[in-house]
Amino acid sequence: VVEKNADPEQMLLSFLRRRGLTGTKYGCGGGGCGSCTVMVSRYDRNHERVHYAVNACLQPIVALHGAAVVTVEGVGSTDTKLHPVQERIAKAHGSQCGFCTPGMVMSMYALLRNKPQPTMEDIREALGNLCRCTGYRPIIDGFKTFCEKSSGCCQNGREEGRCCMERKGSKMNHSEENDICHKLFPMDDFLPLDPSQDLIFPPELMMMEKKFSAAPLYFQGERVRLVAPSELLHLLELKADHPSAALIVGNTTIPKMLLKGEFHPLVIYAGRISELGAVTWGKNLMVGAACSLSTLKEEMEKAVVEMEAEKARGYQALLQILQCLAGKQIRNMATIGGNLLSANPKYDLSSVLAALDCTLHVISKDGMRSVPLDEKFFPAFGKAALRPDEVLLSIDIPYTNSWEFVAAYRQAQRREFAFSFVNAGMKVAIREGTDIVESLKVYYGGVGSTLVKAEQTCEDFLSEACRLLNVDINVSPSIHGGRAEYRKTLAVSFFFKFYMQVVLEMTERGVSGVALPPEYLSALKPFKNEVPQGQQSFQLVSEAQPCGDPVGRPSMHQSAFQQATGEAKYYDDLPPVQGELFIHMVTSLRAHARINIDPSEVLNQPGVVAFVSAGDVPGANRRLWFNHPEELFAQEEQALCVGQIIGAVVAETREQARRAAEKVQVTYQDLQPVFFTIEDAIKHESFFEPKRKVERGDVDEALRTAEHILEDQLYMGGQEHFYMETQGVIAVPKGEHGEMDLFVASQHAAFTQEVVAMALGVDSNKITCHVKRLGGAFGGKVMKIASLSAITAVAARTGRAVRCCLDRGDDMLITSGRHPFLGKYKVGYNSDGTIVAADITYYSNGGCTLDESPFQIMEKAILHMDNGYKIPNLRGRGVVCKTYLPSYTAFRGFGGPQGLTVMESVLHEVAVRCGLPPEKQVREINMYREQQCYTHYKQPFCPTDMLRCWDECLEKASYQDRLREVQLFNSSNRWRKRGITAVPMKFGVGFSKGFYNQGAALVNIFKDGSVLVSHGGTEMGQGINTKAIQIASRVLQVPMSSIFIKETCTGNVPNAAPSAASFGTDAVGMAVKDACEKLMRRLQPLTEKNPQHTWKQQITEAYFQKISLSATGFFGPPTNVDWEKGEGQAYYYFTFGACCSEVEIDCLTGDHKNIRTDIVIDVGKSINPALDVGQVEGGFVQGVGLYTIEELQFSADGVLKTRGPTQYKIPALCDVPAELNVHLLANAENPGAIYLSKGIGEPPVFFGCTIFFAIKAAIAAARQERGLSAIFPLNSPATAEKIRMACQDQFTKM
Ligand SMILES: Cc1cc2nc3c(=O)[nH]c(=O)nc-3n(C[C@H](O)[C@H](O)[C@H](O)COP(=O)(O)OP(=O)(O)OC[C@H]3O[C@@H](n4cnc5c(N)ncnc54)[C@H](O)[C@@H]3O)c2cc1C
Ligand code: FES
Ligand code: FES
Repeated sequence: VVEKNADPEQMLLSFLRRRGLTGTKYGCGGGGCGSCTVMVSRYDRNHERVHYAVNACLQPIVALHGAAVVTVEGVGSTDTKLHPVQERIAKAHGSQCGFCTPGMVMSMYALLRNKPQPTMEDIREALGNLCRCTGYRPIIDGFKTFCEKSSGCCQNGREEGRCCMERKGSKMNHSEENDICHKLFPMDDFLPLDPSQDLIFPPELMMMEKKFSAAPLYFQGERVRLVAPSELLHLLELKADHPSAALIVGNTTIPKMLLKGEFHPLVIYAGRISELGAVTWGKNLMVGAACSLSTLKEEMEKAVVEMEAEKARGYQALLQILQCLAGKQIRNMATIGGNLLSANPKYDLSSVLAALDCTLHVISKDGMRSVPLDEKFFPAFGKAALRPDEVLLSIDIPYTNSWEFVAAYRQAQRREFAFSFVNAGMKVAIREGTDIVESLKVYYGGVGSTLVKAEQTCEDFLSEACRLLNVDINVSPSIHGGRAEYRKTLAVSFFFKFYMQVVLEMTERGVSGVALPPEYLSALKPFKNEVPQGQQSFQLVSEAQPCGDPVGRPSMHQSAFQQATGEAKYYDDLPPVQGELFIHMVTSLRAHARINIDPSEVLNQPGVVAFVSAGDVPGANRRLWFNHPEELFAQEEQALCVGQIIGAVVAETREQARRAAEKVQVTYQDLQPVFFTIEDAIKHESFFEPKRKVERGDVDEALRTAEHILEDQLYMGGQEHFYMETQGVIAVPKGEHGEMDLFVASQHAAFTQEVVAMALGVDSNKITCHVKRLGGAFGGKVMKIASLSAITAVAARTGRAVRCCLDRGDDMLITSGRHPFLGKYKVGYNSDGTIVAADITYYSNGGCTLDESPFQIMEKAILHMDNGYKIPNLRGRGVVCKTYLPSYTAFRGFGGPQGLTVMESVLHEVAVRCGLPPEKQVREINMYREQQCYTHYKQPFCPTDMLRCWDECLEKASYQDRLREVQLFNSSNRWRKRGITAVPMKFGVGFSKGFYNQGAALVNIFKDGSVLVSHGGTEMGQGINTKAIQIASRVLQVPMSSIFIKETCTGNVPNAAPSAASFGTDAVGMAVKDACEKLMRRLQPLTEKNPQHTWKQQITEAYFQKISLSATGFFGPPTNVDWEKGEGQAYYYFTFGACCSEVEIDCLTGDHKNIRTDIVIDVGKSINPALDVGQVEGGFVQGVGLYTIEELQFSADGVLKTRGPTQYKIPALCDVPAELNVHLLANAENPGAIYLSKGIGEPPVFFGCTIFFAIKAAIAAARQERGLSAIFPLNSPATAEKIRMACQDQFTKM
């Protein structure tokens, strides 16, 4: 590609996408998600060909001069040939919504280009990518087939080298029933990997590299000029002449600065200077400042194998940190110099390198100087002690001497791919053969605004050290990022770990007088990140089922190949419509304020076409949901929250719209009251109507007579959807009758259509919404997208198409997520653990507008509060608090997980207070057991399959044995504790708003026999289209390949319900079946007359006989709740299950590891076991995030601080339990639902709470050992901070 006007500000991602290479996706724009991964190949300085994965969103195109870039489109395609990576991720069911899939493919492809037979560890390391749908296991399963040993067991030496199928406590290696299958995909027909078929490095680039590598490069963009010198002297001259110019190498920090409005007209790119990239081993390790972190890691990994262990200690410590520092793609780009000179204390390398006594070689035109890397080198945040004309040339990292001991530590919200809260580097030199400390270096990052040396501690080791650390480490309560107490505790805890490490090593050398108790030793090793393994099982279809009938078989997702090749189109992949404009939302910066908008400056900005706000809406400036209005743009000059849309800029390009939006002048006059929390809303009595209440028995009387009373509460934080594809829409006016087409990422196309029509003041029949597929949704694309679409449609009244694509930060700010809940309970129980009465009030934080808060969400919470327990006297009240935060909305499970978790908290706390094992003696004795049971709202059900799930789960998990092992482990480990917990589940499927439980479909058969199915559901990764095709295939008796689903379109199937509440397949599947059966009835006379005719002949005949080959289908089961009486048939049926999880916590850091999870779940007779297992694993892992690491943070002014993957952590590979087993309950049927199946999308999220309660049990074990009460508060999520601070000890109290 020759780009004559290469703009230094242009990143590779937008460059590719503008050229139609849309397989590379935008997920965050900040290097945090991996959706944009591509492979870069170039000839390096030593003229060796190197391939590495990078994040295209951070890669300026000008830095790629002479490089070859391979995108997913270049790897393989469905038209030509799939690459084995693409084929295997698809066939292994590793692609659900598919939005992360091209990035995953590219990470693996780049690995295979360098190592065609990778190890599992290589694969683990290569996947610095996030996936929100799958839970990673199927991706790993597909990719591990490239490993030398890909037997499907845990291999690679884990757990004493034994296969997970043989391991103690695992009952996976045999199945009593021979119709149980453990294989979700066949491995025998995979395309072989043939590296000779891969794209070659273009010879012309090789020639170019040789010819032009010595020439400087100059690039002039619209606003920025970039110079890329190839020689050191030229670089130094440039620095001397332009001291204020920005210098970049890996460029992983500059885009963020640009986003923050820091603008650099001249940029110097230093990535081409060979002296800066060199790595040499001599007296020390000398690393060029522009050496990438990956290269540094690889060089050290190779070297330490050959090196004496004592010499390598420092490098080992550095390697340990590098393993967790960002993802592979970032490490491929990021440089050691950039890391140090960013002078950001949350970056990990300064502390460890300072402790290692590194020396920095700094160079300018005037010469070179060497400076020690220590706290003085970082005078302030973001500042290094370099003159503006100087650059960092290299870093000397010395070997360690035989009596030097070194360690490095870091603790973050998530173990990998997360900035540390606190990092530390420590080195002690002991006089040989003695225990006399000669010197001690202790450095911390994350405890102040810059690198901190524990100065006094370093002068007096061991005895007084902890006390002095307390003096040295003075964490300001206002420290950036908060968590002051935790940071301080971490600092001391790290030091204590180091102390123990040194004592141990000295004891081993026979010179220490201090004996380290053996139960302390496990605290010394950090948790090892493992590749998740596990077993999945499901029941085979009966042998009598015709082999052409796909129902019940694990068919691959219908679009998996398209998703793996990048051919699958999401809304923002559609080519631009002629004259298309872009819209950027302008949001309120104050929480409750009178606003005055002055857009005059905006209209003069380059490319700006219009500014739209409330006054420009021709119809209604609101969306209506059950007669509850919610504004599109803030109106009456009042904003209710930070992030509320107050206007929008429409411009020729995305960048112009974004830049101009910053120029909108808004004056705010703050109004009172302003509050953000549930507690404050209760104080202000600020609630939404209606409130809900359900009650059975006589709660007050039972509370009076119970043996014991427990009063407590549980708070559960909210959750961000973090679908990989951000929200957006393209509105295309058709030019007549006010018609408009919208290509929209909506789970509820009919609602979007309705809201757009109302806003434009036209009838719904003029508005057509098209939804091809969604890159994940999880409930987040039901409501808010309707408002965004209406605003975009208003902007399209210019007559030109308008595209809206939210940035990740705006998406998180504007669209909000799962409701935080507070469950306050009063419970009456007996000493044997029987719960006789429970009175629970649920408060949710609804934010500033109603959305679905009181209905689907709060209703679902209180309808689920009984879970699987027959509590004879039970009362639930639901109150939605109105606060000044962005309005919370639907999220997978609605309020179900919150409703269930509060009840599980009741069971857990009763067990603790009775001193009984929670599972066997409290959960079991309170369960529903009779054949015919009634929920607290009088819905009848049979709990048999729940009890079967429970028993099988405990058995498969070897719960009793492992509980004993956990107790044994806890008694012999002081600073590490384990916990194991199991919960049952009864989850209602369908909407509590009964009329939503409907589905419709349209099936058309064409003359050539091909079938087009349309239905009202939306494909967002859950596989609704695949299941619909399986169903149509069974009824019509044609192969799945003859059936196609193109899109969801409001013009084909009107008034469809949202795809949500786990009810999509039930509703749509029944409707498709209904339509297909109608068609078959019409065809029946022809079939009887000519049974020998093929399908195609029958269809031709039907056409000539004027038989309609188009039919609609419908399904609408009776469900409803009478809220006056608090009773009814709320759900169509219940999905049952049970889950058991074991965790281990590090009591000194709060880190935890998910060791193993076993799930047995009843999905009736599964229509597609592969998709159902995928939903279970994906939902569970999303739940793991909800209950452990996903934490939304707001400022005191109500500003959302967590606005991207850097601040908000969804589960990565390291969070998946090392062993995750999922079993679909055999011999389960669900009469009345489509082919006896059950909905499964939402229920597994709740299973994440097993991790929460297991963590709580582990903390309790730690506390009890320290003589503290096992009764203590722990709110969800159980973050590292909360775990550490709840494990109170001498260090938390300092
Ligand atoms: C998604 C993501 C996750 C990350 N996670 C972590 C993490 O977990 N832990 C961690 O420690 N870091 C993390 N980082 C930070 C990362 O390590 C740094 O951004 C990176 O090392 C900077 O190197 P660079 O080459 O990209 O620097 P650039 O962005 O190119 O430059 C950074 C700064 O250093 C200056 N600079 C660079 N080289 C020189 C030189 N030779 N002489 C003078 N000045 C120079 C530049 O002028 C600029 O001011 C993460 C970054 C991202 C984007
Ligand atoms: S879009 Fe590039 S890493 Fe997320
Ligand atoms: S399949 Fe990975 S994000 Fe959807």
